[in-house]
Amino acid sequence: MTTIALPITSAGIIQDRVAAAVREGLGAKRKLLPPWLFYDAAGSRLFDEITERPEYYLTRTERGIFAAHAQRMIALAAGPNGVGLEENEPARLRIVELGAGSADKTRLLLAAAVALQGSVVYEPLDVSASALEAAQERIEREIDGVTVAPRVMDYSHEFEAEFGPRPEVDLELAETRERRLVLFIGSSIGNFEPWEAAELLRMVRRGLQPGDLLLMGADRVKDEATLLAAYDDFAGVTAAFNLNVLARLNRELGADFDLESFAHRAIWNGDASRIEMHLESRVAQTVRLSGMDIDGPDFEVDFAAGETIHTENSYKYRPGQAEAMMAAAGFAPVESWTDAQGWFGVCLGRAE
Ligand code: AVJ
Repeated sequence: MTTIALPITSAGIIQDRVAAAVREGLGAKRKLLPPWLFYDAAGSRLFDEITERPEYYLTRTERGIFAAHAQRMIALAAGPNGVGLEENEPARLRIVELGAGSADKTRLLLAAAVALQGSVVYEPLDVSASALEAAQERIEREIDGVTVAPRVMDYSHEFEAEFGPRPEVDLELAETRERRLVLFIGSSIGNFEPWEAAELLRMVRRGLQPGDLLLMGADRVKDEATLLAAYDDFAGVTAAFNLNVLARLNRELGADFDLESFAHRAIWNGDASRIEMHLESRVAQTVRLSGMDIDGPDFEVDFAAGETIHTENSYKYRPGQAEAMMAAAGFAPVESWTDAQGWFGVCLGRAE
């Protein structure tokens, strides 16, 4: 068990982000677990598999948008805008990616940046060091001209502190006329509540300079059957991804979840404009977690038959909503793109 090495308080309580989230989420009246818990090694592999399922249109649709428009996206981002530059003088771009993961679709943008300016610095940010290492290795091998400078961080809390005003770096960027293009793609924004998403974009803005850019990909509202199928694929990969969170708690917190007695559920909540994922207890049962408190009694969680753990929200946007949220955070809309069916949106905004 991995819990042995974790810091323990004098009361024997495990001081771990996972344990803290579980204590709070499963102790609540309406049980929930945060979606970042999905992404242990097994969960990250399952997510990559989801992106290859035919029902999961998001990844290939966004990739198609980049394949069609990456050059224009990069040209617009580097284009003269008068901020800190002589008129008609393009800037050099440095590309930052929030929550880079395997950085698969990013390649198209990196290649376009290399085509325009000969080389590019790419700064992927992710909480997973192993995902960053794999991405760095692949990108440096596959695209000449990209220098990868990965940083392990939780961008949703640390972006501003990491990128906020730092006189020496800002001076260096000004001298090399480099401008940051921040990528927030893959519909990662969908996991945030609308108010959290708005706050996150404001924080990103505070970490940037006028003229820097944000390119954001957001999934769109569409017919319910298409949305539901994307989150409940026929092969059961999404179900396995959802259930893996319980397997993770078994592994890391000495829990005794019986995976057979929980069912994957995907629901479209039209009022809130989101897909919800839940794990539904098929029977009334009590689950014990023995690894949360070394000296104390097991942490016990009672489930009624049919009760659920809410494991994820995936918000879907209407045309114009993502742009409005970016504008409210201080990014003036530059241009937006979608696919032929209007299923997925990508928008570029410039920090004012
Ligand atoms: C990684 C948050 C974009 O919401 O579509 C995929 C995660 N969950 N299938 C999404 C996910 C179930 C995904 N995001």
